Amino acid sequence: MSTPPRVPGTPPDERPKVTIPRLAEMRGLGEPIAMVTAYDHPSARVAEAAGVDIVLVGDSAAMTVLGHDTTVPVGMDEMLMLAAAVRRGLDTAFLIGDMPFGSYENSNEQAVTNAQRFVKEAGCDAVKLERGGASVDRARAIVRAGIPVMGHVGLTPQTATALGGYKAQGRTGERAAQIAEDAFALQAIGCFAIVFEAVPAAVTEAIMPHMEVPVIGIGAGAATDGQVLVFHDLLGIHDGHTARFVKRYADVHAAMVEGVAAYVADVRARRFPEGSHTYSIDPDELDAFRRYLEQDSLAGTSPWDW
Ligand code: KIV
Repeated sequence: MSTPPRVPGTPPDERPKVTIPRLAEMRGLGEPIAMVTAYDHPSARVAEAAGVDIVLVGDSAAMTVLGHDTTVPVGMDEMLMLAAAVRRGLDTAFLIGDMPFGSYENSNEQAVTNAQRFVKEAGCDAVKLERGGASVDRARAIVRAGIPVMGHVGLTPQTATALGGYKAQGRTGERAAQIAEDAFALQAIGCFAIVFEAVPAAVTEAIMPHMEVPVIGIGAGAATDGQVLVFHDLLGIHDGHTARFVKRYADVHAAMVEGVAAYVADVRARRFPEGSHTYSIDPDELDAFRRYLEQDSLAGTSPWDW
């Protein structure tokens, strides 16, 4: 019997925990997998309440929450702090830590050590790393160390400069074949799932029949087993440029500005705080306090023994 689907709003204890076998089962049954990024406790709680299957603490945190222009500057310690906060907010979703630029490329030992940190220090269920090529060896080493790995091919933001910028990949036969090669290699060494980013929909469709593990798309069309979007993009939390593949489901930035502006206006007009926002004191205690304040010299005259 297959596991029942995760329905938003269902209490966590009635929702099945998402595992790698469950993700494979969803793929087999053709049940789309919903994945989002999260970077802190509140965003994790939102993802959990919404019934998300996979939460990725993406290195996109560099841009969405740390204010950098690219994903490159974020480091392991920052990623671990964010991932641990997300872990505390999740009950049932599958948690993946995104290995930041410079945390796995140097050697298999470096890759395994940092993958272990995501599991030990932040409680992640798995890690993700970018690219095929040399990353395949790193992914294999991590899998052999017992840590599940998600691959990531197509547009790989950590090496966007080498790819000619943040733009769609696989738009020639040769480049599409390279993406397929990377995906097949990552699948062959045991990645449990692979992200396809910014790949023409027709290229994804052509690759999908050759895939045996769940493929999660972002800007890769509708043929994948699931979709992932960046939390801040889908909710409109920032007001900057978003990629063509982003669909905005809310304008949270505008709602937040409206809320804070209303607060500022209330403070300036002395409409806030109201009585309901203040604390009371027993009238006798208040009288005693007022008598204390009425003395000519206050310093060292407190009748109360602190
Ligand atoms: O860092 C990130 O947010 C990602 C997703 C876009 C897949 O890698």
